[in-house]
Amino acid sequence: MIETASAKINLALHLRRRRPDGYHDLETVFAFTDFGDTLTAEPAPVLSLTMAGEYAGPAGAGDDNLVLRAARALQMRAGIAAGAAIHLEKHIPVAAGLGGGSADAAAALRLLNRLWGLDWPLDALLPIAAALGADVPACLLQQTCLGLGRGDDLSPWPHSLAGAPLLLVNPRVAVATGPVFAGWDRIDLGGIDAGLPLSALRNDMTAAAIAIAPVIADVLALLASTIGAVLVRMSGSGATCLALYADTASRDLAAGVAANAGWWTAATTIR
Ligand code: C5P
Repeated sequence: MIETASAKINLALHLRRRRPDGYHDLETVFAFTDFGDTLTAEPAPVLSLTMAGEYAGPAGAGDDNLVLRAARALQMRAGIAAGAAIHLEKHIPVAAGLGGGSADAAAALRLLNRLWGLDWPLDALLPIAAALGADVPACLLQQTCLGLGRGDDLSPWPHSLAGAPLLLVNPRVAVATGPVFAGWDRIDLGGIDAGLPLSALRNDMTAAAIAIAPVIADVLALLASTIGAVLVRMSGSGATCLALYADTASRDLAAGVAANAGWWTAATTIR
């Protein structure tokens, strides 16, 4: 059995307040891409994980890998004794603002839900997903949506973006999420108004991420200078930046320019 773990992007990310539990209340527009990791699974007596692909090394297939944690959580919740031999093809950069680990965990839940014959509706998997990480519920649904609270209080986004040409650019710098949240100036600039165009919204973590990885400013400047870019923004806590294009030719031209700078790129579409 096979399952795609779509890379997550944040088309907007507004920070509202730091919470006593250390998390932040935020408002975000999640979207998912036709680019991602691939998981396969076969029946097996115990749980195991093997990995391949460009980013297999940095992610690591150890016991703390979110895929194995997701598998164990579902085993427990469902009272399943069976295992699974899981293989992960890791294409999404790690510590990149693309929710790679969260997407893999969510894909593992969907995959094992089928492999183990549970066939629970996705809604039944949401609480397990939320316990694994703030972005995992959104990654379970893999649809453009609005996330409130920690990012796990989800509702539909009223505008369709499916098929929009999208370019992802990462300057090959890993950025840890925690320090970027911690670097936020704690000034609440207001929530997300779905009536506004996306270009009027923000990623409130941009300045803190640039302070840690200044090259992010160069990526944003390059994307903003490309012809046909209709939205340019950092995703999550960075360092990946995204641009939406009016057409695929403009996107592919921009991808070539970014690749020439030595940066990692993925030319894809919003799913
Ligand atoms: O939930 P997850 O483990 O993916 O979150 C990683 C880190 O991101 C948290 O430890 C926290 O530092 C930060 N975070 C946050 N507020 C959120 C989501 C994540 O502060 N809403």
